[in-house]
Amino acid sequence: MAVTQPLRAVARAILWPFRRFFDPRFEGLAHRIDAKHGDVASRLDTGLTEIAALRDESRHLRDESRHRHAENIQLARALADLIGEGDRFRRAMRSGLVDDIDEEIARMLNHTVTHRGFAAQRNLWFNPPLSVRYREGDVVLAQVNERIVETPYVFRALSRVEPGATVLDVGAAESTLAVSLASLGYRVTAIDIRPYAPVHPSLETVVAPIQDWSHDGAFDVVVCVSTIEHIGLGAYGEPRADEGSDGAAMQRMRELTKPGGLLVLTVPLGEAGVNDVQRTYDHAGLQALLEGWELEDLTVARQLDPRTWVVEPQETTSVDDEARVALVTARRP
Ligand SMILES: C[S@@+](CC[C@H](N)C(=O)[O-])C[C@H]1O[C@@H](n2cnc3c(N)ncnc32)[C@H](O)[C@@H]1O
Repeated sequence: MAVTQPLRAVARAILWPFRRFFDPRFEGLAHRIDAKHGDVASRLDTGLTEIAALRDESRHLRDESRHRHAENIQLARALADLIGEGDRFRRAMRSGLVDDIDEEIARMLNHTVTHRGFAAQRNLWFNPPLSVRYREGDVVLAQVNERIVETPYVFRALSRVEPGATVLDVGAAESTLAVSLASLGYRVTAIDIRPYAPVHPSLETVVAPIQDWSHDGAFDVVVCVSTIEHIGLGAYGEPRADEGSDGAAMQRMRELTKPGGLLVLTVPLGEAGVNDVQRTYDHAGLQALLEGWELEDLTVARQLDPRTWVVEPQETTSVDDEARVALVTARRP
């Protein structure tokens, strides 16, 4: 039994509740490591008892003893791996340093920043214009999406609209725009088929498809960022609707805008097409969307590479595979 005592001490040491070291954000991973530890430690305990028993009988049970010995070597290796994993994890959690990010931590952090991560599951994911990617020992700028031009375009378009004006943000979820506009003094209604989590005294929220929303009265401004192209396609868990839902939504947005009121709209621009997630509009398609509106500004921005967007001068002919976005300000006559 004397030989097994130090090993039992090791087993006790690895059962130390790791969780108490951790930042609470990593409780999930800590639980998993605890569970692994529990499993390995109990197997180790059984193994140690068997080693002790077999040692006494080994002269008579040589084959079984050899088999047990091999199993316990395997177990010791698994234990060593586990201790290494736990140590790396604890080091990263304690230091908070990029250099200590390992593959497992990177995988978890990458999950948390996506539209399917933990926050997203509670409607608390806000699509960032710049996204990062975690790697072993590193964090890098992954890509810059079209929000980098869309959001400031909305603020620019609204610079001539006085605070106190009423604004409807259509497809508001995943964006901080509605709550920013409320914080700037506009009286904002955020509508989406999914709940909008931010709160503000000047912000009302509505969960409904815009094309079916029954509401009396109209707004000074209707904002619709990267939403029209998704309407009716079923990409957000809603039933797929007939063709023409984008036109129906545009029509409803027009009814909900006061005469003389503004529309600020952004949509993907390029070769016309539709897939399971979104439509792309060409200039004719965009013109059709804007029927009944007076166009005040059309700005086109394009993505030069995954991290660079620029406003396209009027005379530019774009390469077809470059992502482009149309930024539109229009007025209801
Ligand atoms: C690509 S997201 C854009 C969100 C946000 N405007 C932004 O700038 O990030 C499209 C949004 O449209 C919403 N949506 C889809 N169909 C809708 C409908 N019929 N009425 C209102 N919102 C809708 C989705 O739930 C989703 O939040």
